[in-house]
Amino acid sequence: DRPRDAAAPAPATLDAMAQDLAACRRCPLWEPATQAVRGEGPSTARIMLVGEQPGDAEDLTGRPFVGPAGQLLDDVLRGLGLDRRAMFVTNAVKHFRFEQRGKRRLHRNPERAHVHACGPWLQRELALVQPRVVVALGGTAALALFGPDFRLAAQRGQWQRMESGVRAFATYHPSAVLRQPPRQRDAWRQMLAADLALLQGEPL
Ligand code: URA
Repeated sequence: DRPRDAAAPAPATLDAMAQDLAACRRCPLWEPATQAVRGEGPSTARIMLVGEQPGDAEDLTGRPFVGPAGQLLDDVLRGLGLDRRAMFVTNAVKHFRFEQRGKRRLHRNPERAHVHACGPWLQRELALVQPRVVVALGGTAALALFGPDFRLAAQRGQWQRMESGVRAFATYHPSAVLRQPPRQRDAWRQMLAADLALLQGEPL
């Protein structure tokens, strides 16, 4: 009998993974969060989108990209003639990291240790869905998928290969667009759209 390898959860289906994920204690983020947020979309999706971590709305609903960033993402994809519902959408980190300020919960960036601890879940989703193309939305997802040497500003919108050989690219996170001052928001949205246009040639 081999000892159970706590570093490599290997549930056989996405539903089985959701159960294991709900009980995850691989890092401390589970405790203040409402719930882990699993990836969502067809298990046969050819395109996988990877975000950073759930936000406030995602933590409460248990679904990825349903808040303001998700709405922007949906809008940009729709403008390109792409339907997010055909894609598998997930995050590099599955629990919301936040700071409580009065009644508000303010987003905090996950640390490298959180991304690392959560890595096996993302790898499991990749193994189960087997997408043809993976998109990293923002620096945290790019870290999880391409490692610490990847430079988002310099390399966004360029095809990469992940270690597995699967084609992938990174672009800005939709929240980065929303954080820009109003005068710059349109230009950032256009950069996001220009990168995501790489998906237009891909079968859904
Ligand atoms: N931002 C993310 O990175 N992921 C979500 O699911 C929502 C907001």
